[in-house]
Amino acid sequence: MVSLNGKTALVTGARTGIGFGIATALVERGANVVITSRSEDKLRTAAAELGDDRALGIAGDAHDPEHQRAAVAAAIERFGSLDLLVNNVGGTERDGRRLVDTDVAAYRRTIDLNLTTALTWVQAAWHGWLGEHGGAIVNISSIASKLAVPDGTSYGTAKAAVNHFTRQMANELAPGVRVNCVEAGTVLTDFTRPNVEGREEKVVGSVPLKRIGKPADVGAAVAFLLSDDASWVTGHTLVVDGGRLLHNR
Ligand SMILES: NC(=O)c1ccc[n+]([C@@H]2O[C@H](COP(=O)([O-])OP(=O)(O)OC[C@H]3O[C@@H](n4cnc5c(N)ncnc54)[C@H](OP(=O)(O)O)[C@@H]3O)[C@@H](O)[C@H]2O)c1
Repeated sequence: MVSLNGKTALVTGARTGIGFGIATALVERGANVVITSRSEDKLRTAAAELGDDRALGIAGDAHDPEHQRAAVAAAIERFGSLDLLVNNVGGTERDGRRLVDTDVAAYRRTIDLNLTTALTWVQAAWHGWLGEHGGAIVNISSIASKLAVPDGTSYGTAKAAVNHFTRQMANELAPGVRVNCVEAGTVLTDFTRPNVEGREEKVVGSVPLKRIGKPADVGAAVAFLLSDDASWVTGHTLVVDGGRLLHNR
């Protein structure tokens, strides 16, 4: 396991699913974590599960600049620094429409949730700590950035932009801050459950490594990219998908 001893990380949208898996992986590797989500009570329970001495939940909407500044400040006040940022929050509203027919307001919400929040969290973390002290960032993307799927609508477009945003930020924030991306395949979470349950055989059949992903699979990849073991890696998108992108079935 890589070591993140002495580092403090902030993971957005992390009371459940992949975000919680990432927070767990970072705590297991020695980091303190601040996790965010909108549901205060559930976030408190999630932080307690990670260990109250190592984790702090700050509730708020990922789009809200006041919440972003408060979460960055809370990390510094409680743990003394904010070295690592994981832009995990994301998702989409499945409306079953093709992109040509999609509701433009919903399209904007998806772009905002996946892409614009990544920018504004980087701004808050940069001005609050990273710009002066350095650190590392990982953005969470999806293999939907490379696949044109029915009902993918704005989601794949937003995630493809997250991949390029990663390269842009990596170039701009070097040498003090490294910026990388993890592009995940299907991981069973509340987000994907409606598309996976009852179709497990088909989903697993499309994955060469023959299993659905776990939040810990993404967590381990994120931990590596945030760690000093990746100190000469920046602007990279690491695909973590059990091999799903290797074929076109
Ligand atoms: N699951 C997959 O197969 C998969 C594959 C590739 C990429 N991804 C990406 O991985 C990331 C996490 O996905 P997931 O499957 O873990 O999603 P999820 O199960 O839907 O969890 C989303 C988390 O984000 C929080 N959240 C949602 N909207 C928020 C907002 N506006 N402000 C603050 N917190 C918010 C939710 O908590 P609250 O409801 O309490 O706010 C929840 O903790 C996303 O970027 C997704 O696109 C997922």
